[in-house]
Amino acid sequence: MARNVVISGGGTGIGLAAAQLFAGDGDQVLLLGRRAEVLADAGVPGALTCAADLSDPREVRGVADFVAREFGTVDVLIHSAGGSGILETPAESDDPLDAVAHNWTVNFRLNTLTAVLLTEALKGRLAEPGGRVLFLSSIAAFRGSGSGAYGAAKAALHPYAHELARQLGPRAITVNVVAPGYVEDTGFFGDTMDAARRERLIGETSTGRAGTPGDIAATLHFLASHAAGHITSQVIQVNGGAERGH
Ligand SMILES: NC(=O)c1ccc[n+]([C@@H]2O[C@H](COP(=O)([O-])OP(=O)(O)OC[C@H]3O[C@@H](n4cnc5c(N)ncnc54)[C@H](OP(=O)(O)O)[C@@H]3O)[C@@H](O)[C@H]2O)c1
Repeated sequence: MARNVVISGGGTGIGLAAAQLFAGDGDQVLLLGRRAEVLADAGVPGALTCAADLSDPREVRGVADFVAREFGTVDVLIHSAGGSGILETPAESDDPLDAVAHNWTVNFRLNTLTAVLLTEALKGRLAEPGGRVLFLSSIAAFRGSGSGAYGAAKAALHPYAHELARQLGPRAITVNVVAPGYVEDTGFFGDTMDAARRERLIGETSTGRAGTPGDIAATLHFLASHAAGHITSQVIQVNGGAERGH
């Protein structure tokens, strides 16, 4: 049976790959993101779109109204919205502490608040039995990524997912987290990736390659399947072994 699938960050990268997979099953997909033109150009057959900044409660209320009108029930909720903050507006002040405050606030808003607000707005609409909530974390939540802010903002989703899994389990809804390593062909790094860094990141894997959006989408798709009905409150790493080292 066709399912209603809501995907934040669904216009690009991992969210878009997931949207294509679910749409290929005949599911009805709703793509969310801030840039309306990116959502409109995503090219997912039959997808609905709704542009909103999901770190703003007012805009999330608008999304919830849209979902109520168009879907009623949500079968699968995927939180792919996020980023490291490098593509966001920089701090206005040169003061080092102002820059730290800005970086941590931006990362919290992009990665934690977007996912928590959308979940809280839609959790009463999740299908029971069978609803699925899926968060995107990162290898950075396990080992850092530079400033600490991005990894910390992603790590904050883990206990939230565990609480939610306990809360929603009695309604036969599962909640899981997928934590990718380096994934190419997304908007995540903008134009900041260089050959040496790419080689270093690939060198950390046991598989000798970068992840693809399709790798992560396939894991999300499995966790959303009926077959994964007894998997809940887990953080699944998809990184070619990079977090363990070799
Ligand atoms: N690529 C990697 O190597 C990697 C590794 C580990 C984890 N991840 C995580 O995987 C997820 C998907 O990232 P990606 O690699 O696919 O990068 P991406 O292409 O940049 O996707 C991120 C999406 O989030 C949306 N977004 C950002 N802030 C938002 C907000 N406030 N409200 C609504 N939408 C927002 C962006 O669209 P708008 O800018 O139009 O809003 C964009 O479509 C992210 O959570 C990321 O942290 C990525």
